[in-house]
Amino acid sequence: MNGHLDGGFIPVATLDVLDARGRAVVQVDGVAVALFRVNGELHAVADACPHRAGPLSEGDLVGYVVHCPLHTWPFDIRTGQCPRHPGVQVRTYVVRVQGQHILVSASGRVHAP
Ligand code: FES
Repeated sequence: MNGHLDGGFIPVATLDVLDARGRAVVQVDGVAVALFRVNGELHAVADACPHRAGPLSEGDLVGYVVHCPLHTWPFDIRTGQCPRHPGVQVRTYVVRVQGQHILVSASGRVHAP
């Protein structure tokens, strides 16, 4: 499961890795990435808060906004943007599902504020 497929998308896990809340942490090119399933779609962000590296995978999720468990900074998991601190954002990744396989873009992306 380490080969690059389809324009930089890497198979990182199968759907059964998601826990009861639809979450998992996977490795993408050596970086921990948090997966969140919301309304049937998967979203992926770096699992390190840009403030002080809190594990966003363990944060409370309200709609599409995850709150860092350390100091509660909020991040939209669709865009990575922090509504409380304009200009601050966490890296997001594009996710695809093919059959039972979860694929994540190797390059990731950061949205401009
Ligand atoms: S480490 Fe995330 S808000 Fe401080």
